[in-house]
Amino acid sequence: MSKVTIKPIEWQENRLKILDQSRLPWEKVYLRLSSYQEVARAIKEMKVRGAPMIGVIAAYGVALGAQRIEASNREGFLTELQHITEALASTRPTAVNLFRAIERMKVVAQAKEDIPRIKATLVREAERIHADEERATRQISQFGAELIQDGFTILTHCNTGVLATAGYGTALGVIKAAKEQGKRIRVLATETRPLLQGARLTAWELMQEGIPVTLITDSMAGHFMSKGEVSCVIVGADRIAANGDVANKIGTYTLAVLAREEGIPFYVAAPISSIDLSLPSGEQIPIEERSPEEVTHLQGMPIAPEGVEVANPAFDVTPHGYISAIITERGVVRKPYKKGLKTVATNS
Ligand code: MRU
Repeated sequence: MSKVTIKPIEWQENRLKILDQSRLPWEKVYLRLSSYQEVARAIKEMKVRGAPMIGVIAAYGVALGAQRIEASNREGFLTELQHITEALASTRPTAVNLFRAIERMKVVAQAKEDIPRIKATLVREAERIHADEERATRQISQFGAELIQDGFTILTHCNTGVLATAGYGTALGVIKAAKEQGKRIRVLATETRPLLQGARLTAWELMQEGIPVTLITDSMAGHFMSKGEVSCVIVGADRIAANGDVANKIGTYTLAVLAREEGIPFYVAAPISSIDLSLPSGEQIPIEERSPEEVTHLQGMPIAPEGVEVANPAFDVTPHGYISAIITERGVVRKPYKKGLKTVATNS
């Protein structure tokens, strides 16, 4: 079993305790959030991040906000709840898990008649969303581990473990499960500029798990692939369109193209909650643009001339043709993705 006992998020009697990921790995600071506004801020400022985790914390955020609504009738209560869900939905646009979780919360609220029952059901539904994501990551990890052979060196990007999923992990879950099966594996973790989720979080999680990890800068990936030092690439996803195009952390597309050039399998591991069948292709996926300071500064230190023009898209889209397989909790989907994704995403 996994050695890591990190609890990145915990519901505590009308408060939410979260591990501040922006301060890892140097400081292990827990924050107590007691309003939905604080939850929205934590998501925006990426104190909590990763697609499945954003869905889980948003659900708890709705439950938290609902407990404080003082409306005396159902209609007034639901109007205030709508403001809360809108505030949480406006935090980050790319990961579809956020919107899916909020939708689930709205549906259960609508289904109950009296206010105390709605409040109680919202807490239960947030806990259910959390449990569903946890279960999904365990299943993904088991399916994905079958693709990993003894002696593999796996290249991964960004952070997809317990911190990003509130569960076992997606891409990192696959890696951990392969290790638990006794396979001798090694990981190349890209640092993941600009916010260094790979260097700060993935390297930290893997070292705690006792999985050999070598940290590289993003620009070194092609070098190691061309030397034959990468057996496969596994990444997570923030949103998967109906045709299998995948939005994930900026730099993922570059890795997929390099992997294709070098004949290296490129896998995506993601829960069904990251699949968005309403979008025909990746072209329609909204890509978050974040603040220029994330590029011009490193941990608060300026690294570029003041006033330089900056672009900072947080995600890119990898066309489905570059993807060897998509690993979900309902099995491994291969081309044609349109058919396979529809089957796993609608077959409950
Ligand atoms: O901007 P972030 O850190 O929230 O981005 C996270 C990623 O891109 C992850 O790769 C993705 O959410 C998959 S997490 C299981």
